[in-house]
Amino acid sequence: MKRAYNFNPGPAILPLPVLQEASQGILEIGGSGMSILEVSHRGGHYEAIHFEARDRLLKLLGLKAEEASVLFLGGGASVQFAMVPMNFLPAGKTADYVVGGEFGAKAASEAKKVGSVNVAASSEADKHARLPRGLHWTPQAAYAHVTSNNTIEGTQFQALPADTGSPLVLDATSEFLSKPVDFSRVGLVYAGAQKNLGPAGLTVCVLRKDFLATAREDIPAILSYKAHAKADSLFNTPPVFAVYMFNLVLKWLEAQGGLEGIRKVNERKAALVYQALDEFPDFYDPAVTEKADRSKMNVTFRLKGGDKEKDKEFLAKAEARNLVGLKGHRSVGGFRASIYNAFPEEGCQALAAFLRDYAQGRA
Ligand SMILES: Cc1ncc(COP(=O)(O)O)c(C=O)c1O
Repeated sequence: MKRAYNFNPGPAILPLPVLQEASQGILEIGGSGMSILEVSHRGGHYEAIHFEARDRLLKLLGLKAEEASVLFLGGGASVQFAMVPMNFLPAGKTADYVVGGEFGAKAASEAKKVGSVNVAASSEADKHARLPRGLHWTPQAAYAHVTSNNTIEGTQFQALPADTGSPLVLDATSEFLSKPVDFSRVGLVYAGAQKNLGPAGLTVCVLRKDFLATAREDIPAILSYKAHAKADSLFNTPPVFAVYMFNLVLKWLEAQGGLEGIRKVNERKAALVYQALDEFPDFYDPAVTEKADRSKMNVTFRLKGGDKEKDKEFLAKAEARNLVGLKGHRSVGGFRASIYNAFPEEGCQALAAFLRDYAQGRA
C-alpha cells in the first residue's frame, strides 16, 4: 500500500493504525455481525463507543465530568459560528471577537447577524500576516471569541489572550488536541474533526458547565447546546462513524503520551520545517512576519518572486518526492504544509530536505 506524506489542510492525514482498525470496524463491530456503518445509534454497540470517546476526551484534557460537557455535533465548525451567538449572546450584551484570519472574520460576521459584536482586534490591515495586536475587551462581555490557530494564514496563539474579562470561546478547529488546553478561562472550545480529530462530519465541543448554564433555551432545540448536553449528544442521530473514528484517534493519542507528549512532537516537527525555510531567506518567504506567531500546525510560505510557473514546478517536484497537498489556500496562494498530530516526523524531515534541495537546485 502506498502512503503519501499528506500535507492536506483538512480532511487531513489520519494515523495509520487508526485507519487499519477502522477498516475492520467497517466490516464488523464488536462481534455484532454488523458494520459500524450499520449499527443503530441507540444500540449498545454504538453507545459504548460514544461514551468511551467522551470519557477519553475528558481524561486527556484533565477535566472531570462534573466540570465540563462534551458534545458531538454535526454540521461542521461553521455551524458553531451561528450557534455560539444564538446561545450565548443575548440582547443587551456584547461579544468580543478577535479577527486573526478568514475564519475569525466569518465567525464575527455571523455573530453580527445575531447581536452586538465588538471586534477586539483585527490583523486585517496586515493581511493577517501576524496575530492581531492591542486587544480591546468589552467590560462584562458575553464572551470573547478567538480562533486559536488560523488555518489559512498560518498564525497561532502560543498562549491564550489574557485579561479578556469574559469567558473565552475558542475556535480550535485546526489545533485542538495538539497541546494541552488551559480550561481555567475557557467557557467553550469547538473544533471541526477533519484536521486533528478524525474524518469530516463531526464537530467536538467542550463546554465548562458554569458557562453552559448561561446558555439561552428559547431557541430551536437542534441549535441549543443545552438540548444536546441534556441528551448526551444523542438528541438526534450523531455522526456515528466520525465519533467511532474519533475514539480510535483518542486511543492513538493516549499512546503518544497524551497532549504533553504530542505537543513535544509537534514542536519538533514544526521546527524542522521552519528551520529549512529560514536557511534560505533569498529563496523562501515565510508568510507570517512574526516568528512568535508562527503556527505549529499550518506552515505557510511562498517562493520569492511570485512566479506562477515556478510555483507549479515546486509542487510537481514535491509530489515526485511523495510530498502531497502543499498548495496554499486559494484565497492566499503560496504553499501550506499542514502538519497535524498524525503527520509523521519523518515527513517533516523529508519536506525539510526537499526545501533545501530545491533551493540549491538539487531537486
Ligand atoms: C479555524 C477554522 N474554523 C472553522 C472552519 C470551518 O470548518 P467547517 O468546514 O467544518 O465548517 C475551518 C475549516 O477549515 C477552520 O480551519
